[in-house]
Amino acid sequence: MLYLRDAFPRERWTEALPETAAFWLQMHGGFRAQQRHMADAASRWRSGAVDPRGLHAALMPTLQAFLQHLDGHHRVESGHYFPHFRLIEPRIQSGLDLLDRDHDAIHAHLDALYHSAVAFHRAVAGQSSDAPDHANRLADVLDRAAPGLIRHLDDEEDIVIPLMVMKGGPAA
Ligand SMILES: [Fe+2]
Ligand SMILES: [Fe+2]
Repeated sequence: MLYLRDAFPRERWTEALPETAAFWLQMHGGFRAQQRHMADAASRWRSGAVDPRGLHAALMPTLQAFLQHLDGHHRVESGHYFPHFRLIEPRIQSGLDLLDRDHDAIHAHLDALYHSAVAFHRAVAGQSSDAPDHANRLADVLDRAAPGLIRHLDDEEDIVIPLMVMKGGPAA
């Protein structure tokens, strides 16, 4: 699958990119920023810098946006872009299979994040004494979700950005 990255390596991504490719990178940049923000909030919680309410305020708006946008993003990729790429570049089927499997794996993490976030929110809203336990659980789920997500964003860009530069993307 790396022939695409070799044909148009990351060092050249500063050149003028097709609009869809630039937008794709911008979306991924947003997910990376949200992930960093949430990891930072979790580490402030663990260090004792914030209480459960403080964690809730720092984390929940970002987490909510992250879950919504990433789920929507994957739907558009797997349902619209990847089928188009399969048609225009048959050599990259196995790469797209891998990215589709990533989406399923990440979806399981998003599901776990959603459920831990709801439990944490209820505990904080109800001023329950187990709010710290729910905060710990949510922070752990965030930790587990991060590596696969970051790797997926990198791998997907290595395939999709050169492909769009060389062959063009579908209409948005
Ligand atoms: Fe993806
Ligand atoms: Fe993506």
